[in-house]
Amino acid sequence: MTTVTGTAVTGAVGTARTRLEGVDKVTGAARYAAEVPFAELAHGWLVLSTVARGRIRAVEADPVLAMPGVLTVLHHANAPRIAADFAGLLGRPDPVVGVFQHDRVPYLGWPVALVVAETSEQAREAAEALVVRYEEEPHDVAFHAGRPGTYTPQTPEATAEKGDVEGSLAACAVRVDARYTTPEEHHSAMEPHAATARWDGGRLEVFDSNQGSKWVADDLARLFSLDAASVRVRSEHIGGAFGAKGVRPHQVCAVMAATVLHRPVRVVLTRRQTFSLIGYRSPTAHHVRLGADADGRLRAFEHEAQNLTSTVAEFVEYSAGVGRVMYDAEAHRTVHRVVALDVPTPTWMRAPGEAPGSFAVESALDELAEKCGLDPIELRARNEPVVGPVSGLPFSTRKVLGCLREGARRFGWADRDPRPGVRRDGRWLLGTGTAASTYPSGVLPSTASLTAEADGTFTVRISAADVGTGARTALALVAADALEVTPDRVQVRIGDSDFGPAWVAGGSAGTRSWAWAVMAGARELRERLVPGGSIPPEGITARSDTAELVGALAKKERHSFGAQFAEVAVDITTGEVRVRRMLGIFAAGRIVNPLTARSQFIGGMTWGISMALHEEAVRDPASGGHVSPDLAGYHIAANADVPLIEADWVDDPDPDDPVGIKGIGEIGVVGSAAAIANAVWHATGVRHRHLPIRPDRVLAAGAEGDPSAKAGGDATHSA
Ligand code: MOS
Repeated sequence: MTTVTGTAVTGAVGTARTRLEGVDKVTGAARYAAEVPFAELAHGWLVLSTVARGRIRAVEADPVLAMPGVLTVLHHANAPRIAADFAGLLGRPDPVVGVFQHDRVPYLGWPVALVVAETSEQAREAAEALVVRYEEEPHDVAFHAGRPGTYTPQTPEATAEKGDVEGSLAACAVRVDARYTTPEEHHSAMEPHAATARWDGGRLEVFDSNQGSKWVADDLARLFSLDAASVRVRSEHIGGAFGAKGVRPHQVCAVMAATVLHRPVRVVLTRRQTFSLIGYRSPTAHHVRLGADADGRLRAFEHEAQNLTSTVAEFVEYSAGVGRVMYDAEAHRTVHRVVALDVPTPTWMRAPGEAPGSFAVESALDELAEKCGLDPIELRARNEPVVGPVSGLPFSTRKVLGCLREGARRFGWADRDPRPGVRRDGRWLLGTGTAASTYPSGVLPSTASLTAEADGTFTVRISAADVGTGARTALALVAADALEVTPDRVQVRIGDSDFGPAWVAGGSAGTRSWAWAVMAGARELRERLVPGGSIPPEGITARSDTAELVGALAKKERHSFGAQFAEVAVDITTGEVRVRRMLGIFAAGRIVNPLTARSQFIGGMTWGISMALHEEAVRDPASGGHVSPDLAGYHIAANADVPLIEADWVDDPDPDDPVGIKGIGEIGVVGSAAAIANAVWHATGVRHRHLPIRPDRVLAAGAEGDPSAKAGGDATHSA
């Protein structure tokens, strides 16, 4: 027995701490899902369809079964039956998880077989040798604005409308009517999806890489008609997720094969396979119409946003949500449209909705500022809403102007010459741009258990996921303050479905939701720890469940806000755009760990550079598949593309959160591509409304009308 002693210590939240698992990660001691060793492990390799629409006529498994090491070939004619038609914690899973249940092929890259062998190499060789015959049907993968088949989805969020947009627009002194597009984009996590499944005395155990182990465990239980209690999923370390790591074909295949073979089976996706199996961000098309008085005050705001979905499920990218939070007008209309094509189903990808939507809206605001002859920050100041433009609800806090002004001060915005195309540095045209940023702030029910150990330490158990964000470390700081001890006395155990229900690492609401559960558990535990009382060898454990607490939150507009600033250099003879510096200032709640929070913001802003200049998955209309589904052909910002990039924040604790957290996972990307596109306009005088701003697009714009000629000055001369 140990006696409860100790003096109260707080103040851990808000101090910079390196990751608790940092040493393990950099020394290789941290094990990722595909690295957990197992005796008798077999390896599964997925075979994906090579046609974009049709039926499977035959899977010629026999020759492959005779190959060295091959144990089985699972496909639609022999696979165990599963039930993929249910709604889990995050709704219905992507139908692609219902692997091998029928002979239909809805898109190129659909799973048609799993080859399992003694080694990964044998499985891969056999998978590549497997002949699958198809009855091919015509397919259609061509996405563009307003194409035939486009419809308005029957969801409550699809449309919001007030006032008379046409009438208001007609009465406006200044109008913007512009169309923007963003391409198909992929999550491209450093660690591709991987899972190992085994049966252990009647219990299914899965080692996986995911955003929520309890979420995945419950979905797997439903898929295989098992008791939730007989499935355990663990996900200790995760090399990035970004919305793509829920239940996916790899876990389902691993469980299926482990069940059939009575052996542990591992399934690892290749980079190429991730392009069709894990979801992606749909390409988007936007039509934005703004009307304002001569002084820049908005009277009409309209945003129609379109995305694609598959023929097997409807996914809506809610890009037009940005205007519902950011800008008010007497006439206000935001609409989402969708078209179903023969492509994989898109999914959430970091700042779903806001990332592409903010590119359109924040570019259009910049165009309006130009037309009004107003500074873009002043334009936003004149259009700050007092309540939610659509909801009419008050904001919990809204410091978007605080961010813009602090950013302007630090970026040196006051010295900016508003004229486009008049600054140069050798062969480079220079420009600066800004954009506002927003992302919803949410909290969802979670459970935790906290144990006061006999040795004077504390153990927190929660089914949280640290997808690379530093969540584990943040929770240790929250728990330390709640227990009034130093963080070194707290162990945090996460990534295990046995720790009970919890929200996932998603919606920028992971750490916030888990922190509530930790706070509630700590309060309970402290009540049970009587000073001078004793702790038995098994410790004293308190459990929490925040379902009632979060359900009692008053309805308000709850968001994080921010301001993005970028300086670019554009070489109009090669079309190259380089970002020279970026600054992001955020009002995103209390910052738990400044070190990892800065990484989160900068990571999001780097996504913005990538989105503005590099990322674009190209589909070949003839095959229906990607031209180059790999990181050689799918360009992302690399070190040399990321120059001076800074993120900071203004004080903005959430008044209704026990720690003051709002959530920071996604806002870093929001507005960042628009800030860069606005800077490219400022540099060249040419608006780029289609991402990415590729060299050929810069050159084409230059050829249509010399961009610098519009602005006059000596920038017309080449270096
Ligand atoms: Mo994130 S796209 O909410 O996982």
